[in-house]
Amino acid sequence: MRVSFKLNNQPVEVDVEPNEVLLDTLRLRLKVTSVKRGCERGECGACTVLIDGEPVYSCLVLTPQVEGREVVTLEGLQGDELAGRIVKALVEEGAVQCGFCTPGFVLTVYAGLKKGLIKTLEDAKKAIEGNLCRCTGYVKILRAVSRLIK
Ligand code: FES
Ligand code: FES
Repeated sequence: MRVSFKLNNQPVEVDVEPNEVLLDTLRLRLKVTSVKRGCERGECGACTVLIDGEPVYSCLVLTPQVEGREVVTLEGLQGDELAGRIVKALVEEGAVQCGFCTPGFVLTVYAGLKKGLIKTLEDAKKAIEGNLCRCTGYVKILRAVSRLIK
């Protein structure tokens, strides 16, 4: 079936299986590789994308569900001032090791800051609780997010 949506500000039309998940459509059909395949069952957050501004696990969304909606991946935030500051803070705090989790963290933190939902360290912890990192132990990630809290 054909699905039309906006991906990173560009209109996209793609033929998919009715039961295809967005993670597969993005990675395999549209070659959007910042979206990572981790657990594939809504536990790790590596596949996070923004749908209409909300961070969502793309492994749990059927592609037909995004018909007419707006999907943003890390590629779509190139040149964005806030996203740039998040990446800079993560890098400067040494919060990127293998980097597999990083796109998901950036999108989750981006959405939280954009909506004013991250105002304290506790807010930051809550915001990132759905994103797992095997490398950093979260301390450096939280330190990076703290730098962005006004
Ligand atoms: S791959 Fe989607 S939450 Fe882990
Ligand atoms: S930096 Fe490796 S999983 Fe987070």
